[in-house]
Amino acid sequence: MNLEILQKKKEECRTWKNVEPWFLQLKEACKIEKSNLKIDYGDWFSVGKKEDLNEAEYEIIVETAKKLIPWRKGPFKIFDLEIDSEWQSNLKYNLLRPYFNLKDKVVADIGCNNGYYMFRMLEDKPRRLIGFDPSPLTLHQFEFINHFVKSDIIYEMLGVEHLELYNHKFDFIFMLGVLYHRADPVGTLKSLNRGLNSKGEIIIDTFMIDGDDEICLTPNQRYSKIPNIYFIPTIPALKNWLIRAGFEDIEVLATVVTTKDEQRATKWSFDESLEEFLDPNDNSKTVEGYPAPKRVYIKAKKVQ
Ligand SMILES: C[S@@+](CC[C@H](N)C(=O)[O-])C[C@H]1O[C@@H](n2cnc3c(N)ncnc32)[C@H](O)[C@@H]1O
Repeated sequence: MNLEILQKKKEECRTWKNVEPWFLQLKEACKIEKSNLKIDYGDWFSVGKKEDLNEAEYEIIVETAKKLIPWRKGPFKIFDLEIDSEWQSNLKYNLLRPYFNLKDKVVADIGCNNGYYMFRMLEDKPRRLIGFDPSPLTLHQFEFINHFVKSDIIYEMLGVEHLELYNHKFDFIFMLGVLYHRADPVGTLKSLNRGLNSKGEIIIDTFMIDGDDEICLTPNQRYSKIPNIYFIPTIPALKNWLIRAGFEDIEVLATVVTTKDEQRATKWSFDESLEEFLDPNDNSKTVEGYPAPKRVYIKAKKVQ
C-alpha cells in the first residue's frame, strides 16, 4: 500500500456524512486568527485567554468544542473554556514524565488521540513530533486546538500498521493504550521495532492481569464494555512479547489500577464511564466478571 494514497484519506474523510459537520464547524473556528497566545503546558493544557476574543468569537469556540464531543482525552483550556475530558490524561503523562527527554529527538505518538500528550511534549522541544491515529473525530479536535497553538506537530490519520510505510524512522515511540486493541500484539511490537532508529526507545502501556505465569486473558466479546480488546497479558507474558519483537532493557515503570480519579463521565464525554464498566457489587471486577482494568507501563530499547 502506498503512503500517499493512505494519507489522502485524511482529506477525503472531511466529506463523510458523520465527519462533515465537524469539519464545517472547525472551518468556522479557524477563521479566528490570533497570534502570540499564552500557552500553559501544565495539567490543563491551555492556550489563550477569554479576553483575547470578542463575544462572538468566544461563542464560536464554545460551539466548536461542543460539536467535537466526546472529548475522551485531556483536559484542555481553550480561551479559558474548560474542556474536562473523560480521562484525566495528565495523570498518565505525569507518571511517565520522569522517564523521557525528547530534546532534539524524532518522536512518534501512536494512538495519539487528540494530541494531548504531544501538546505537552512540545515543552521538551523535540526535533519532530508526529501523531498517528485513524480517528477523524480526534483529528478534528487536534486541529481545533493546534490552530491556536500553531505547533508544527504532524497528525497522520494512520494506524500503527502503517508505521513501516512511513518515510522516516523515529528515535522515540510512545504507544499508549493501543496494544490491547491489536489482534496481533507481537506483530504490532515488531512494527514499532522496525519504525525505530538504532538506539531507539519505546514507552507503551497496556491492560495487564496479575500473575507470574506467561499467560494472557482473551476476553469473550467485551472487556469492561470495550468491544475490541484481544489480549491482556501478565507482565512475564508481555516481556516475552517484547523480547520476541526485538527489544531489550525492558523496564516496568509502574502498574496502576484505573480509578474514578482518572476516568469518569463529564459533560464533555459519553454518559457512561468506568463506574458503569465495573461490577457494581465488586469493583475489583468488570461487568463481564474479568479482573478490573489495571495497566502496566513499560520502557524498552531496540536490540542493537
Ligand atoms: C484507548 S485510546 C488511547 C489514547 C492515548 N494514547 C492514551 O493513552 O490516553 C486508543 C487510541 O488508539 C487509536 N487507535 C485505534 N486503532 C489504532 C491503530 N490501528 N493504530 C493507532 N492508533 C489506533 C484510537 O483512535 C484511540 O485514540
